[in-house]
Amino acid sequence: MHLQRLDVHGLRNLRHVQLSLSPGANIFYGSNGGGKTSLLEALHVLGRGRSFRCRTLNPIINQNEDSCTVFGLLEKEGKNIPLGVSRSRKGGFQFKVNGQLIHNASSLAEAMPLLVLNADSFRLLDGGPQYRRQYVDWGVFHVEHNYRLLWQKFRRALKQRNSLLRHDRIDEVLLGVWDAEFSGLADQINQYRQQYLLELIPKIQWVIEELTLLQGFEFKHYAGWDVAKPLKDILLASRQRDFQLKGTQYGPHRADLRIRFNNQPASDVLSRGQIKILVTAMQIAQGFLFYERTGCQCLYLLDDLPSELDVQHREKVGKLLYRLGAQTFITGVVRDDVVLSWPGDSKQTSMFHVEHGGITPE
Ligand SMILES: Nc1ncnc2c1ncn2[C@@H]1O[C@H](COP(=O)(O)OP(=O)(O)OP(=O)(O)O)[C@@H](O)[C@H]1O
Ligand SMILES: [Mg+2]
Repeated sequence: MHLQRLDVHGLRNLRHVQLSLSPGANIFYGSNGGGKTSLLEALHVLGRGRSFRCRTLNPIINQNEDSCTVFGLLEKEGKNIPLGVSRSRKGGFQFKVNGQLIHNASSLAEAMPLLVLNADSFRLLDGGPQYRRQYVDWGVFHVEHNYRLLWQKFRRALKQRNSLLRHDRIDEVLLGVWDAEFSGLADQINQYRQQYLLELIPKIQWVIEELTLLQGFEFKHYAGWDVAKPLKDILLASRQRDFQLKGTQYGPHRADLRIRFNNQPASDVLSRGQIKILVTAMQIAQGFLFYERTGCQCLYLLDDLPSELDVQHREKVGKLLYRLGAQTFITGVVRDDVVLSWPGDSKQTSMFHVEHGGITPE
């Protein structure tokens, strides 16, 4: 699966961009402020219906335009699938897949699975548990088709339970009913995550071995409660505390993937470059597993890939991504830094120079 064409209009400083893309590596280089990250942002908007830089889409609309649009032509299993997203300043949003208007951005994510490595990826290690939950759930969502519906049902149960906890006094009977629903859904979510991690963690360890000589990483899943006991009993025991805190303290919404290095939290001891190697390994592992499970490739957005990495690590990352065979979109300031990160014998590489919002193929 790969994008053949990408058209971007009115997104940040990219006013009119039309690109024919390589199914392999697409390398974008150029000076600061040229529009490289904006191009990846456009791809992210196309694949997820939202930016990776800001919560709302208004700031991404070019200051002299009233709307922005991103159009892509996807080649998937021998078929061409057009995808489009447009957003007007007045708030109108439109997602289209295969000419059909869709109401939920998750259909975009299903059509064009994306993995992103950018400055925010560091949060996977030094940010809160929600970033690691999102990371794990990306994989579960893409390999288990029931997962999205299950997750939606769980969110509803959590919302109901929390709203009961905000009442003046505890309604024991009603809370009992929601606890049963909540724990049943929570167990299913946990099982899906556990099963996925059983395959993902060895994959991450394998990629780490390919990328670095560092040894001693440990990944441990915390379900969000002590799984040795039934969640229903834990909820009952923590009812008073939940009531005081006006929220549910145990459940899959509190899960984490704890990452340790030589028996210490990895974020406390690793250097910036080592963190980048680790989060890169985590993203590459997910791409390999996704391919194994679905026979499909996801697309990689790699913003400023060379930064923080020395030459040896850049080369190893490039080789592994090349071996995976996914379509990649790689940016960097200095042309040769990016080019030298990618295997030299690669035929499927397209180079683009990015300057003042214009993108020129080499
Ligand atoms: N809504 C907007 N309208 C017009 N221009 C914008 C808008 N938002 C941001 N810009 C500008 O777009 C330019 C592109 O920024 P971008 O982050 O894509 O650059 P970059 O090539 O990734 O640079 P760097 O190498 O510094 O990471 C910047 O000059 C920025 O100020
Ligand atoms: Mg940038």
